[in-house]
Amino acid sequence: MTQPASIEDVQTLLSGQDYICARPLATVVFLALKLGRPLFLEGEPGTGKTEIAKAIAAALGRCLIRLQCYEGLDASSAVYEWNFAAQMVAIRTAEASGTADRGALQEELFGPDYLTERPLLQAMRPHAEGPPVLLIDELDRTDEPFEAFLLEALSDFQVTIPELGTIKAAEPPIVILTSNRTREVHDALKRRCLYHWVDYPDFEREIEILTARAPEASAALSREIVAFVQKLRTEDLFKKPGVAETIDWAKCLLALDVISLSPEAISDTLGAILKYQDDIARVQGSEAKRLLEDVRKSLAPV
Ligand SMILES: Nc1ncnc2c1ncn2[C@@H]1O[C@H](COP(=O)(O)OP(=O)(O)OP(=O)(O)O)[C@@H](O)[C@H]1O
Ligand SMILES: [Mg+2]
Repeated sequence: MTQPASIEDVQTLLSGQDYICARPLATVVFLALKLGRPLFLEGEPGTGKTEIAKAIAAALGRCLIRLQCYEGLDASSAVYEWNFAAQMVAIRTAEASGTADRGALQEELFGPDYLTERPLLQAMRPHAEGPPVLLIDELDRTDEPFEAFLLEALSDFQVTIPELGTIKAAEPPIVILTSNRTREVHDALKRRCLYHWVDYPDFEREIEILTARAPEASAALSREIVAFVQKLRTEDLFKKPGVAETIDWAKCLLALDVISLSPEAISDTLGAILKYQDDIARVQGSEAKRLLEDVRKSLAPV
């Protein structure tokens, strides 16, 4: 599969991977693929930012290469590392056999056999199936020097290894960056990318997602679950539930053979949707009952 031909094509391809893509998101995905631009996705946790990279890779039959960002991630661990242990063994072996030709050994030790490729370098390599999808996940966890480095790597799709020279991607990878916006990512990096804010889905779309991801749930139960989670998102909570929580919750309720929500079933399974004790304490008991009554009213046929 090379390129989707239209925005609808993107939606169809992704729904083939059980990923439900609203039109605005499908539009930026289409453009990112067509124009060969990196796609920068920011949004609430658990709204499908990481998942879309997996879905795009699977739909296009490409390899997915993931660079998980964390505090202290530096350029070398993102691009390549020399395999010190193997180098040491080679040195010892050469010493023991007494055949060490220093120059040749040095060249060998800093050659491809002793190079451990990390995600950015892997993404620059040719792949039989076509350019891979490079997912740079949770970029907001790294620091500014790494961002500056990334900016360079993404502008010309090449990386330099002092001992080996510059390696340039023959065809640029499909790059998807995600952030939870725990800090602002630098404008210069954003400027290189197409940007999209991934919000919580609306009711109908979340039903579609739940139907795709937890098809065992009946239509009536799915509607109750989604309406309840959407209602919770309007409450003053420390951490609102994402789509991932909706799916988890449905699976928990199904595992308990719940066919319709009740205040007891909700209280028993709140840990699947709320992950902070203060939030759980707030919703448990009479509040769960009140929310459920509101939800039932909103779902009642008019
Ligand atoms: N649009 C969607 N279609 C299908 N499944 C979805 C969608 N959005 C979210 N999901 C489900 O929610 C789960 C969590 O999504 P994902 O891990 O991509 O969230 P995220 O936005 O990367 O969250 P975080 O910011 O916490 O990393 C996915 O495994 C998937 O099952
Ligand atoms: Mg993620």
